[in-house]
Amino acid sequence: MSEPNPTVAVLGQGPMGAALTHALLKAKVPTTVWNRTRQRAEAQAAAGARIAPSAEAAVRAADLVIGVLRDGNATRAVLEPIPGDAFRGRAIVNFATSTPGEARRMAEWAAERRTSWLSGAIMVPTPLVGAPDALFLYSGERALFDAHADVLAVLGGDARHVGTDHGLASLLDTGMLEVFFAGMTGFLHATAMVTGQGLKATDFLPFAEVMINILPASLAGLARDVDAGTYPGTEDNLTMELAALGHIVDTSDDLGLDGRFPRVMRDLAAAAVDSGHGGDGWSRIIEQLRKPA
Ligand SMILES: NC(=O)c1ccc[n+]([C@@H]2O[C@H](COP(=O)([O-])OP(=O)(O)OC[C@H]3O[C@@H](n4cnc5c(N)ncnc54)[C@H](OP(=O)(O)O)[C@@H]3O)[C@@H](O)[C@H]2O)c1
Repeated sequence: MSEPNPTVAVLGQGPMGAALTHALLKAKVPTTVWNRTRQRAEAQAAAGARIAPSAEAAVRAADLVIGVLRDGNATRAVLEPIPGDAFRGRAIVNFATSTPGEARRMAEWAAERRTSWLSGAIMVPTPLVGAPDALFLYSGERALFDAHADVLAVLGGDARHVGTDHGLASLLDTGMLEVFFAGMTGFLHATAMVTGQGLKATDFLPFAEVMINILPASLAGLARDVDAGTYPGTEDNLTMELAALGHIVDTSDDLGLDGRFPRVMRDLAAAAVDSGHGGDGWSRIIEQLRKPA
């Protein structure tokens, strides 16, 4: 059951803290803000936020405390000096980005101080905060998530509790970011090739989109193979793919580009082929990635 009429404090008024504050105020959630640089907090007064003179005062003013500081160090620097009794009966949701290990250490630190703690990860940029489909991940105690579900839904309508292990929200965040950046970097390298031959990036875009549209089915196949631990090469095989990846590297070199990105993919395929797996499908690459280079 979610708390009726909770009050919220937002510690940190950078771009993301400000976006979370606006979403809360828009939903008429009484919100207190604090920021190390006071002017950034004061900028929220016009929208209806109460400005706390200290982080401790902000914590004491709220049922739910949202931490949205730069990282774990900044979060510790702000929370550590606050006396433990200020946190009794309150919950903290920490959105500062971290590794899974750091998220677990932060949760242990909170547990030692007998502080209710939920680890969060924000999966949208600031303009999408508050949208019904904005994805926010949470890990930690399920009952704590449920207790604050209504107010968390104000921040992002797609609020998902992904498990009790505090590292999970950050683990999924990290994995999603890798998929995102690898996709964007592949697109930019391919775009460097085609623009190097006189095409415009926008000419290439619809062709790139054809490949993007194939990816969901391809990823589903990879996931099935990885979970099954078998890498059938019935529809594609690494020997054929190695030749294609070699063409990307060669074209990149011919154009005088930085070919590190396609080389990583080609070298992974070459290592799998060299170890006798040329007849397997691309999913076999997981075994290369599971060992140190
Ligand atoms: N912006 C996004 O699109 C986005 C998306 C997803 C997740 N996030 C995550 O949200 C968190 C906040 O991001 P942000 O975009 O708002 O900007 P940010 O630059 O990462 O964080 C700025 C906030 O951290 C505070 N801060 C930094 N070091 C501090 C310290 N040592 N002591 C006290 N306060 C400190 C700043 O205070 P001052 O104003 O005094 O400098 C400001 O409130 C980050 O962990 C970020 O990864 C951001």
